[in-house]
Amino acid sequence: MWHEVRGLKDEVDFGTPPRDGPPVTLEIDGVMITVPAGSSVMLAATKADRAIPKLCATDMLEAFGSCRVCLVEIEGRNGFPASCTTPVVEGMKVKTRSETLKRLRKGVLGLYLSDFPQSEIPDGWSEFHETLKAEGITSHPYGEAGANHFDAKVDDSNPYFLFDPTKCIVCSRCVRACAEVQGTFAITIDGRGFESKVVASQDQPFLQSECVSCGACVQACPSHALVEKSLFEGEYKNA
Ligand code: SF4
Ligand code: FES
Repeated sequence: MWHEVRGLKDEVDFGTPPRDGPPVTLEIDGVMITVPAGSSVMLAATKADRAIPKLCATDMLEAFGSCRVCLVEIEGRNGFPASCTTPVVEGMKVKTRSETLKRLRKGVLGLYLSDFPQSEIPDGWSEFHETLKAEGITSHPYGEAGANHFDAKVDDSNPYFLFDPTKCIVCSRCVRACAEVQGTFAITIDGRGFESKVVASQDQPFLQSECVSCGACVQACPSHALVEKSLFEGEYKNA
């Protein structure tokens, strides 16, 4: 398990930060749950023991709603809203599991996998891998055909952590952690679409950037694109 490898406790991640509004009661997969107003559907579902898969959400950061893995069905609403950015409403009825949701999530995860090193999927040890496993995805959907970032070079300039862009799923957690947790704003996402990439300061090696090595980005990264060097024995291998 990735959190065991990292030496962390098996703490529950509620997906979005807690709120302290008046109580709101809703139904999630038939389970009644009461949470403070302003909470997300994702947080309520996790409290109801109906955790929803997620990639860009974590309860240490405000929701961003970019990965579209956390889709749910809400009675009386069209479409499939992202549970991390949808606030709870009194009497709301939410479905977190269905054949349609499973198909949609698989499709989204397949797109992420299409630009993730195939050799890194089996026996992976990140939150991303845990999500793949939970959704029953055990192999690469398209092989290594098509455009990808597999040749991107590892930045190992920082003495404590490295950045392997081949494993980056561009979820922006590191960007938000740097800004919200540390207030440093050393990391940004540069470019758009397929060209999007994580950059430190003015596209510099981490060690030469404004990064203060606080580790917030490393803690937030779900795919171990940013990872502590101490987790590797000897030299890190660019897989
Ligand atoms: S480095 Fe990690 S946290 Fe940052 S965008 Fe990539 S996958 Fe997300
Ligand atoms: S976890 Fe909700 S959109 Fe990414």
